[in-house]
Amino acid sequence: MSQPVPVPHTSATIRSGIPAVDGYLDAGYATVPGMSSRFAAAICCGLMRIQSELGVAGPAVEVGPFEGRFFIALALALTHGETVVGIDLFDWPNPEVIDRFEANCSKHGVLAERRITWKADSRTMQPEALLAKLGGRRPRLIHIDGEHSRAALTKDLELATAVLAPAGVIVLDDMLHPGYPTLMVAVHEYLGRHSDMCVLAIIDRETVVAATKFVLCRSEWFKRYEAKLLESYQANVWPLGADFEPHWCLVLSLDTKLAEIT
Ligand SMILES: C[S@@+](CC[C@H](N)C(=O)[O-])C[C@H]1O[C@@H](n2cnc3c(N)ncnc32)[C@H](O)[C@@H]1O
Repeated sequence: MSQPVPVPHTSATIRSGIPAVDGYLDAGYATVPGMSSRFAAAICCGLMRIQSELGVAGPAVEVGPFEGRFFIALALALTHGETVVGIDLFDWPNPEVIDRFEANCSKHGVLAERRITWKADSRTMQPEALLAKLGGRRPRLIHIDGEHSRAALTKDLELATAVLAPAGVIVLDDMLHPGYPTLMVAVHEYLGRHSDMCVLAIIDRETVVAATKFVLCRSEWFKRYEAKLLESYQANVWPLGADFEPHWCLVLSLDTKLAEIT
């Protein structure tokens, strides 16, 4: 007897499995200005739940939190005693963006002791300074969504890799985006320099703005994380996967159909 085909979750029904995060995704996420997709936020926070279940602890970091849309979801996914650092120039589109960021965090239940707001330029930041800000604790998730140039992403990737916990993951925004084709060059050059790192999963886009994210991890963690992501998000796995020659990884998508061949 053939198995029933699982129905893919939609952006509205996908869950992280953390009640505080899922409540925010349902009732707050779309009200906070930002660019990351709800689909990606649910899966990244689902990955933080998986980390907690596996005993992987530590803070989180976002480069480019803007008004806090994705940052708040990360903060709500933390467990006891963990914090999230938001690094931003906070000068775009105007200097008041930092006040809106703080107000959004407070409104959606991110306690002041849970968050560290850091008005700084990630391009000139040294790993020692970021680690000091984190109280010496290495982050388990870093979301890179700052300046979208090849040089800046290269710098942000090196900064993230230098501070990342052994079981940490790096999430990259705006991958495969038609407006930022050189970001892919930076990623492939990075993977060439860091043979211990690999792409764990691709989180497909919702729209051009709510673009694709890549999730990177150390190769020794790939199988454990992949198995857990499959358990949680089987219905949203695009069947053919992604070919990084020779490494293959999961593609999680709202659209799991293949081309029809007659
Ligand atoms: C596309 S927005 C981020 C959106 C947000 N992460 C979300 O998901 O809604 C990019 C942010 O990166 C910040 N940024 C750009 N260059 C930066 C740099 N060199 N250092 C720190 N932040 C930077 C910008 O100020 C802006 O707030």
